[in-house]
Amino acid sequence: LEEVELFTSQKAEDVEQFRIKYLGKKGILNDLFQKFKEVPNENKKEFGQLINNLKQSVTQKINFLKENVSDSIQSDIEEDLTRPGLALNLGSRHPINIVKHKIINIFKKIGFSVADGLEIEDDWHNFTALNMSEYHPARDMQDTFFIEKNPDMVLRTHTSSVQIRYMKQNEPPIRILSPGRVYRNEDISSRSHCMFHQIEGLYIDTDVSFADLKQTLQYFTSELFGKSEIRMRPSYFPFTEPSAEVDVYWGLETETDYRITKGTGWLEILGCGMVDPNVLKNVNINPEKYSGFAFGMGIERIVMLMYQIGDIRMFTENDIRMLQQFKYEF
Ligand code: PHE
Repeated sequence: LEEVELFTSQKAEDVEQFRIKYLGKKGILNDLFQKFKEVPNENKKEFGQLINNLKQSVTQKINFLKENVSDSIQSDIEEDLTRPGLALNLGSRHPINIVKHKIINIFKKIGFSVADGLEIEDDWHNFTALNMSEYHPARDMQDTFFIEKNPDMVLRTHTSSVQIRYMKQNEPPIRILSPGRVYRNEDISSRSHCMFHQIEGLYIDTDVSFADLKQTLQYFTSELFGKSEIRMRPSYFPFTEPSAEVDVYWGLETETDYRITKGTGWLEILGCGMVDPNVLKNVNINPEKYSGFAFGMGIERIVMLMYQIGDIRMFTENDIRMLQQFKYEF
């Protein structure tokens, strides 16, 4: 006990030696615990107390000394330049961000660039300019978060508003993507959220046809999902005519990315169509001269399909166990 109390050192190595001497497998304390068995019953209590006291003061001593040696460990590191560096604990990118960038990169290759807009929009950019009449059901208070009435200000319900802003300021040819947050006044469940991400695309030029739209989307899905097929179903959007909904079927023979789980059957991934001439007129683009297509998709939905994520709420919970699974994705 006295030896323990007198021991002192600031060197990490010495403290470690000391620890092994007392607490190691063949250390003094283990030895004493062995001997404990042979001690006659009447002395067991006293002997036991002695061992425990010793153990306690050894542990206390080590803890105390360790605090003081930390500085000298640090200076060892600084002096020895050949020592491997300390690993930094890096974060990971969010899956929404990862997939968003995958999509942007695919469209970059065919000349699209990214346009930014506002999350708080006025009525005209979010609805009116997009050919949504005053009584269109999407204007219902149920779907839209209103920030102000008369004049109406809303949280944008889609990023189509970015396309309106861009078309007002730029001449065709136009090839843009508008990724970003959108808001809808919906109940939160595993399938839907009041805030999610969209990525929309717009292409305006002379002689743009529906065939161009289909070919572009076919190229896009095969880049994102690997070998895949698309099918288009007639649909309705106020700002496109004709409009279609696109389903994708993938996991056919080869996959470009083994981490992506195969899809099962036809899965709906986006809405699209030829830009309505009324929309072009609203932004002073001559519909006799120019035509174009637009498409829009929800990023969450695509991430959920690609990585088999069952609940949309996981994207905003920031559970580190979920996020860390994307550490090696770029
Ligand atoms: N803006 C539509 C939506 O929010 C998506 C879309 C974009 C559809 C462009 C067709 C063309 O659902």
